[in-house]
Amino acid sequence: MDNTQGHTAADALVVFGVTGDLAYKKIFPSLYAMVKRGMLNVPVIGVAASPWSLAQLRKHAREAIIKSGEIDDKPALDHLLSLLGYVSGDYNDPGTFKALKNTLGDARRPAHYLAIPPELFMTVVKGLGATGLAEQARVIIEKPFGRDLASARELNRVLRSVFADDAIFRIDHYLGKEAIMNILYFRFANTFLEPVWNRNYVASVQITLSEAFGVQGRGAFYESAGCLRDVVQNHLFQIVALLAIEPPAYQSFDAVHTEKHKIFRAMRPLAPDDLVRGQYTGYRKEPGVAKDSDVETFCALRLFIDSWRWQGVPWYLRSGKCLAGTVAEILVELKPPPQRLFDDSAPTNGRDNYLRFRLSPRTAIALAARVKRAGKAFTGDQRELFLLDEQPDKEAPYERLLGDAMAGDGALFAREACIEAAWAVVEPVLAKHHRVVSYKAGSWGPNEADALIAANGSWHNPIAEETE
Ligand code: BG6
Repeated sequence: MDNTQGHTAADALVVFGVTGDLAYKKIFPSLYAMVKRGMLNVPVIGVAASPWSLAQLRKHAREAIIKSGEIDDKPALDHLLSLLGYVSGDYNDPGTFKALKNTLGDARRPAHYLAIPPELFMTVVKGLGATGLAEQARVIIEKPFGRDLASARELNRVLRSVFADDAIFRIDHYLGKEAIMNILYFRFANTFLEPVWNRNYVASVQITLSEAFGVQGRGAFYESAGCLRDVVQNHLFQIVALLAIEPPAYQSFDAVHTEKHKIFRAMRPLAPDDLVRGQYTGYRKEPGVAKDSDVETFCALRLFIDSWRWQGVPWYLRSGKCLAGTVAEILVELKPPPQRLFDDSAPTNGRDNYLRFRLSPRTAIALAARVKRAGKAFTGDQRELFLLDEQPDKEAPYERLLGDAMAGDGALFAREACIEAAWAVVEPVLAKHHRVVSYKAGSWGPNEADALIAANGSWHNPIAEETE
């Protein structure tokens, strides 16, 4: 699938919020990587409220890049710094946008990247529209895309009143990860999977996105979001969609998006009992967090996709901060053979054959199968056929997605219809849910999460570091 044809490249990149955290941690390192690869050679104009000089911005950018790793290409760094420009001003002031227009000079097709808090999205989008800076331009926005269905619709309405749909690039950085792109490839580039990839053979699917660290100074943000909004409604649902979609009907990412939308539509809206919300002990002492906070830093849920293929198969999703390790993994557990012909073929560890996708820290795919142990007895063990992927020089997700947006390729971006359908699934539990239960930092979350899955087995706790 190639989506790169027929698009015009942006001739400038405007980064709103250039002095902020996202720009420091992700955007500058990605821009540096893009320059190194020869993928960025247009003006990069930063916009922010701080009254900085261009020299200050350059210093800041250099620091951000050094912080992210070694400087292994000094000319590329110098070139990036030479591409930088800066406009300081208030986003509510039309003068800021006029100054931006002047700074953009001859550029006619800028890409505007909104690396700013979501509550400012609409102000900036309207400012761009009013100054004529949206014509032939693109806009790149970051999740969260709204905080519920109504606000997501309103955000989309404002974006669409100023930009054409194909000029809006909504970043869910999980879609730019190799391991996640590989789900689509692995499913549809192979023959052996399709016959078993359905309710007749799959017993359950689990996805764990676990982080060993806490909210890391983002307490105030977390208070307004919580785990369900932060990673489940977007990152984890996108993974579910890629695992669950029907084969795209033709060779185009438009067909992929169409199939993903059907999956979001077929997800059964969640009810309070489908969800366990946890909070690590100590969270309420984090800066910016209410002393009596009921915000979840852990979320486990049971989901059903009411489609022909997946009817009755439970999908268990789990994510949290301050858990036992930093690791992301999918486990697709298969049903047992119809007859237990060997005394030992009932799984001793409670698991039948499965397919395991390790998404991070190291990408791997494992297929677990039973094999006979040497000897007279017909007994055996479950072993993994293991495929470890260690390709060097992968593009980081932001690098890939920023490059795609600049090139005008929307294949790996979230689409409005999918986002709204995903909100509709979580909408019933956004306001109506059980209170958080606390869990110890360094554990796998509250015991209540075990009860959620008990009818279909147990959580698979991925090992944080592999030794193979
Ligand atoms: C972000 C969330 O979208 O994704 C963070 O806001 C989370 O809370 C992060 O830590 C996880 O991304 P990654 O790429 O580190 O798995």
